[in-house]
Amino acid sequence: MSDTNAIGLHQSSANQLAEQLNTLLANYQIFYMNVRGYHWNVKGQQFFELHTKFEELYTDLLTKIDEVAERVLTLGHQPLHAYSDYVKTAAIAEDKNVHDGEACVRGIVQGYQTLIELQRELLSLASDADDEGTASLASDYIREQEKTVWMLNAYLG
Ligand SMILES: [Fe+2]
Repeated sequence: MSDTNAIGLHQSSANQLAEQLNTLLANYQIFYMNVRGYHWNVKGQQFFELHTKFEELYTDLLTKIDEVAERVLTLGHQPLHAYSDYVKTAAIAEDKNVHDGEACVRGIVQGYQTLIELQRELLSLASDADDEGTASLASDYIREQEKTVWMLNAYLG
């Protein structure tokens, strides 16, 4: 059928989903770079534990970046792939020159909160479009990241 894409979803739904996924992708990319910055720039008594934890988190973000971009392609669209587009599109702001461990962790909590909100919107959109593939991706990420937010807030005390 001409109004459906290669995986049988309505083109208009796929357009909307791809747009929301691209917004999510842009936020992931800026957040990824922020967390790498925290990994590099953190100083103080918690250096070793935070430096290692931040590496674990950005490595996971990188996996998700690829999954989100490839979901855009699966829906028949093109993922954003230039930093200039990411900066224009993302709600998460670049966070530079942060050295204090707690400030780094607060930046990470805020980033995850933004991702979770965007993924809830994506989940709702995907459910309405019967796009189980995108919905399950979004719900897996939400569940994992909600737990991460709990743990980071426990660290902050
Ligand atoms: Fe490193």
